[in-house]
Amino acid sequence: MRSASKNSIGENNSIAKNIIVTIDGPAASGKTSVSRLIAQRYGWQWVSTGAFYRGLAYVAIHEGVATDDEEALANLCQSSIWRVQMDPEQTLVYLHNRDVTSEIYREENGSAASQVSQFPKVRTNLLKAQRQCAENVNGLVAEGRDCGTVVFPNAHVKLFVTARTHSRAERRAFEQGKDVEETKQAQVKRDHQDSSRTVAPMQIPPNAQVIDTSDLNLDQVVDQVDAIIRKQLAQQSLSPL
Ligand code: DC
Repeated sequence: MRSASKNSIGENNSIAKNIIVTIDGPAASGKTSVSRLIAQRYGWQWVSTGAFYRGLAYVAIHEGVATDDEEALANLCQSSIWRVQMDPEQTLVYLHNRDVTSEIYREENGSAASQVSQFPKVRTNLLKAQRQCAENVNGLVAEGRDCGTVVFPNAHVKLFVTARTHSRAERRAFEQGKDVEETKQAQVKRDHQDSSRTVAPMQIPPNAQVIDTSDLNLDQVVDQVDAIIRKQLAQQSLSPL
């Protein structure tokens, strides 16, 4: 597996600024929508690191690899049969050159992704490709569970986006046309699994700004996040644009 950007490297011949913003948080907290819009606002790259785990889980199931076999999963991470590609709208996953993105984002595959993400060897083997997303870019917004702690511990700005459990379940159930209670149960299980694993658990990174999106609409969240990023970058004599 490798990761790639749709944009060619150094396309405007200017020196890449390499600003990194991380947005971590639990399932359906709104981190994907906000990070995508922030990246669009600044003309930056955006990556959902969940796509790597979702992609691996999907590929394992399709290739007949057991999702509890750490060695086999770790080998599959290195396989060239699949790849992750950054895109302004959605982080894309290809298997045998077929775009399987819409399949990996189903909630069932989210649970399988959470399972495979428990394994230390899997996490190690996916890390390099995740970090490559920050190469030769002016800016990158990386979202996930451990972006501010493990993938990009030296990020310029770190955020942790969260929301009340019920609000998150309502959002995801509405998006996927599912029952709220069922969605809530699956999310609670997944959040517990993601935050209690021994390696790179979901947690609020040191120095991260926490935003609760329960009572905010998307525009309000984006404006708050934008203001925090600008302020923190200004303190480092940087600007997003
Ligand atoms: O963000 P998401 O729902 O697409 O992530 C799916 C699963 O992938 C999540 O439940 C745990 C795992 N994941 C992870 O372990 N580390 C990340 N940085 C991102 C996702």
